[in-house]
Amino acid sequence: MISIKNLSLSYGKRKVFENLNYFYGKENGLICLIGPNGIGKTSLMYCIAGFIPNYIKARLEGEIRVFGKEPTKLKQKFFVFQDVEDSFLYPKVGEEVESVSKDREKTVKILRDLGLEGKTEEYITSLSFGEKHKLAIALALLSDSKIVFFDESFSSLDRESKLEAIRDIKELSKKAIVMLTTHDLQLVYEIGEEVVEMKTNCLEIIPKNKLEPFVCKDKKFYEV
Ligand SMILES: Nc1ncnc2c1ncn2[C@@H]1O[C@H](COP(=O)(O)OP(=O)(O)OP(=O)(O)O)[C@@H](O)[C@H]1O
Ligand SMILES: [Mg+2]
Repeated sequence: MISIKNLSLSYGKRKVFENLNYFYGKENGLICLIGPNGIGKTSLMYCIAGFIPNYIKARLEGEIRVFGKEPTKLKQKFFVFQDVEDSFLYPKVGEEVESVSKDREKTVKILRDLGLEGKTEEYITSLSFGEKHKLAIALALLSDSKIVFFDESFSSLDRESKLEAIRDIKELSKKAIVMLTTHDLQLVYEIGEEVVEMKTNCLEIIPKNKLEPFVCKDKKFYEV
């Protein structure tokens, strides 16, 4: 459940949005947030996750509730950052993974799905950019959160890993709310259960058929 009422955000003099309203009534599902560069998608997700105003200086007005709580009070959440380096707290892959889950079986499966199974002793700084994204996605999948955010997390993944990640994320969305941003409309068309377009000062739920002029309808690129 997400409820947003009259939400306005500005960074100093820079107004990002005003009077946004949105309601999502389910406790699970996959929401795709789309919109042009700089419209405020990352900022909005930071608000829903409670990072604004707690960790990032900004002026926020209005009301957000996630599962009925103020976002800052919601514990079971995970955010895969667009600047992926911000997603990590520990030096090594294995330490990071252990910090989010003690479930050995699940950990082995997720790391294998994402091609990270042999990397647990490696330093995160030594991973490639795509591997860092894979690790952050793995942590999100392992975190047992009620709401998980993926901010442009898939564009640097190779095709096989992307398909595996999507399969796992669809599975995750059966028990948690997954909110993701991407500029890949084909991905949105194929996997999004709810598509929300961010426009100037407005969030609009758009039916899938509105995406049809921009995608390939007859072929599945992300069939898993
Ligand atoms: N910490 C900050 N301080 C000041 N301005 C910021 C800050 N973070 C973002 N902005 C500004 O807020 C606006 C919205 O940024 P945001 O990153 O939320 O957009 P976005 O929709 O996620 O874009 P993209 O598709 O490129 O990721 C931009 O104009 C950006 O310059
Ligand atoms: Mg962004």
